[in-house]
Amino acid sequence: MRRPVRRLIVAVPSPDPWRALDGQPNVAALIAGLEARGGTPTQVRLRRRFLRFVPIRAGQRVLEVGCGTGVVLRDLAAMVGQRGAVVGVDHSHAVLAAARRLCRPGRGRITLRLGDGARLPFAAGRFDATLGITVMLHVAEPLVVVHEMARVTRPGGRVGLQDQDFGMMGVTHPDPALTDRILDGVPRHLYEEPYSGRRLPGLLREAGLESVRLLTDVFQDTTLEPWTKTFLERRATNAVSFGLVDAPTAQRWLDGFTALVAAGAFVFTMNYYGAVGVKPC
Ligand SMILES: C[S@@+](CC[C@H](N)C(=O)[O-])C[C@H]1O[C@@H](n2cnc3c(N)ncnc32)[C@H](O)[C@@H]1O
Repeated sequence: MRRPVRRLIVAVPSPDPWRALDGQPNVAALIAGLEARGGTPTQVRLRRRFLRFVPIRAGQRVLEVGCGTGVVLRDLAAMVGQRGAVVGVDHSHAVLAAARRLCRPGRGRITLRLGDGARLPFAAGRFDATLGITVMLHVAEPLVVVHEMARVTRPGGRVGLQDQDFGMMGVTHPDPALTDRILDGVPRHLYEEPYSGRRLPGLLREAGLESVRLLTDVFQDTTLEPWTKTFLERRATNAVSFGLVDAPTAQRWLDGFTALVAAGAFVFTMNYYGAVGVKPC
């Protein structure tokens, strides 16, 4: 008689570090990277352009889900002014500790809460606007999170999402085939949905939001700024650990950028998609 096959269910941890930041060996570097990215001039421009597109106005109550170190919260606090309020939620203790240092909550208009985007710790209709900036890429069930964001937004209020899209990157390099292998291959291993940016308008509509609008923007760097350098180095390290290239090839790829930067021929671009919808009244 054949014995029944036992089904073994094994929870495989995601390779995406932002899914469970607190358990990462390089948590301090990831946190520092958020601040470095947030301060890069093109990032400042495209983030603020998106916040104006939402639009965020003086006096509003605004929630950011997946607030990280508070790069966006600080901009929001300046936009909503003394009469407004800004709340940041994140599921990482470590990143919220950094946000507490950097945002000085309590003294300004910023409040920080530990929480999961899929179960927000707020009553329905509390916020004029609820935002998720470069977070949808990292959550296991984006639609569940968007439904939660819509629940805590007042009728007539806005839900806004902005994400980069790893299928829309351009970079100069003497070996384009190797560049494709690394820059296309790594996000496929790292994220369930590496092209999350272009999905945002559909996600908002699926969650029942109306009057959905899209703003496409481009991050660009021609000097290999510190954040871009770290980003490319991390892609090279991941390409080795995912078995896409060996270590000498990854190093050769990184070295390939050096001469381009010196010659003023380095270009790195990445599309950002920002989508906003209105909660029906
Ligand atoms: C790439 S960071 C973006 C931080 C910030 N929005 C910014 O643009 O600087 C993504 C953040 O989302 C948080 N995060 C990921 N999944 C989450 C979830 N399900 N609930 C709450 N926060 C989450 C991570 O801990 C991390 O701080």
